[in-house]
Amino acid sequence: MVNRSHDSDDDREQPKPVVLITGCSQGGLGHALARAFAANDCTVVATSRSLSSMADFEPDPRFFLQELDVQSDESVRRVTEAVVRKYGRVDVLVNNAGIQCVGPLAEVPLSAIENAFGTNVFGSLRMVQAVVPHMATRKQGKIVNVGSVSALASGPWSGAYSASKAALHALTDTLRLKLALFGIDVVNVVPGAIKSNIGNSALARYDRMPELELFKPFEARIRERANFSQRSRTTPADMFAKNTVAVILKKNPPAWFSYGPYSTAMAIMYHLPICVRDFILKKIMKC
Ligand SMILES: NC(=O)c1ccc[n+]([C@@H]2O[C@H](COP(=O)([O-])OP(=O)(O)OC[C@H]3O[C@@H](n4cnc5c(N)ncnc54)[C@H](OP(=O)(O)O)[C@@H]3O)[C@@H](O)[C@H]2O)c1
Repeated sequence: MVNRSHDSDDDREQPKPVVLITGCSQGGLGHALARAFAANDCTVVATSRSLSSMADFEPDPRFFLQELDVQSDESVRRVTEAVVRKYGRVDVLVNNAGIQCVGPLAEVPLSAIENAFGTNVFGSLRMVQAVVPHMATRKQGKIVNVGSVSALASGPWSGAYSASKAALHALTDTLRLKLALFGIDVVNVVPGAIKSNIGNSALARYDRMPELELFKPFEARIRERANFSQRSRTTPADMFAKNTVAVILKKNPPAWFSYGPYSTAMAIMYHLPICVRDFILKKIMKC
């Protein structure tokens, strides 16, 4: 007969980690991450600006679906409270929601740049500020910020996006040091080129900007830049998600995890002398 009273802690059933992910629209990285966390026995709070963009998750009890706009205080507060009320905790926050912003910095409307920073930087920080009190009380948790390799070598036509991701990387580094005091791990996930809707969404936003003047002759190159990460050498989102989730769920996750095409090349670019980096970027971006 098995003596249950001597079961070790490891034998006891652990509660499933509760993972809150932003930007889970179908076709993107957040959606693939949600699926990969669910496949790893996590309870997934999948969020996006519209429930209809996650309709395929609807019948699956592993997902708790919520509408969430990271730019809205009210929306972030409402969802965080709903999750804590339902599960009592958030174990992992994945700040995945993000937008690209293409165009020449000298002509892109400031409102478009503010929108990129509002989503990528302040949206992520808003989520962090909402969940940290709950994680700190329990002295555990993981915060995952999704950065970008484009922050490692800021090239033409994507300055606003690269700057917003560089800001997020810097915030992530500070958060990692400060939140360790409360038992919270902070991970910077830095994707290379991964298949998603990011290029098409960027083009749709670019088409709503006023006509270019000074940089009009570069129109075609700017459009190419929007879809640079979506060309032939692109890693499927599911593959990215599977590998990323395996790293995040480790007991001691790394501070930095970069995955996908260009991740090594961009890490090398980061360390090159500026004149060499400029030369390469001008060649690649044809400017
Ligand atoms: N794909 C790549 O090659 C690549 C490379 C480096 C970094 N990344 C980063 O990976 C993350 C995911 O991007 P993706 O490639 O999967 O692009 P995507 O397919 O366009 O997905 C972006 C997600 O963010 C959501 N979003 C945008 N604004 C939001 C807001 N205010 N509140 C909540 N959600 C919002 C979008 O929602 P809607 O559907 O409502 O617009 C969508 O669900 C981003 O942070 C991106 O910068 C991607």
